[in-house]
Amino acid sequence: MSRKPIIAGNWKMNMLSSDAKSLFEGIKSHWSETSATVMPQVIIAPTFTSLWAVSSVKCSCGCGCDKIAIAGQNCHWESSGAYTGEISVEMLADAGCSYVIIGHSERRQYFSETDEMINKKAKSILSKGLIPIICCGETLEQRESGITDSWISGQIRAALDGISSEDIAKSVIAYEPIWAIGTGKTCDADEANRVIAMIRSVVKEVAGESASNSIRILYGGSVKPETIAEQMSKSDIDGALVGGASLKVDSFNKIIENTMTVMVN
Ligand code: PGA
Repeated sequence: MSRKPIIAGNWKMNMLSSDAKSLFEGIKSHWSETSATVMPQVIIAPTFTSLWAVSSVKCSCGCGCDKIAIAGQNCHWESSGAYTGEISVEMLADAGCSYVIIGHSERRQYFSETDEMINKKAKSILSKGLIPIICCGETLEQRESGITDSWISGQIRAALDGISSEDIAKSVIAYEPIWAIGTGKTCDADEANRVIAMIRSVVKEVAGESASNSIRILYGGSVKPETIAEQMSKSDIDGALVGGASLKVDSFNKIIENTMTVMVN
């Protein structure tokens, strides 16, 4: 596989900084002897208040720091100013982040994030040299009424609007059917692969073939150690955005391990 797979853990609003630090240490120490070249890119997205605790562990490891990158779970598009409760890309970078998750369905649903806001965030992230992980996905009602592909292609076109092909190529998309998030109901791997291939064809239209071949597109929604190997064996699935199963050291490490098994085959 020419695209380096990604296994990203989205810790959402969980754990105080001491627990976050311990979990991060548990992941890091498990892989400390393993060469980064045989591993997927591992990314951890802690809460904002745990970013410094986690990045202090990362920076003292001495080697292979690039094995585990840190992500913010959200950002504002402005650099600074009167935006109470918000955080800028510069602040995330300062706390050790190199990726930022944007457009998660929970942010769209509970915090009224629009496609336009997500596009502004993506542009801001890329302009500061970080990488956006742009989430998209349909509700169960949308799926049942047969509009999954048009809905998702609309989300992707809007998120990527006005971004250069070069920047799109290094971005990451996460396809997360909303009905599969936190429900234990994983999307069938063939169907997830079909939607992800459709997203890749939209990227090809918007940014050209080279960008569509380079961009990494992840699946998210109840990913578990038992589901990841089948998901990773599909042609267009480049990794996973993992919620619940990223909160336990054993299950997250097992997801990484099972991904590596598919990578070497
Ligand atoms: P889940 O969450 O793995 O708990 O379904 C995934 C996500 O929301 O990114």
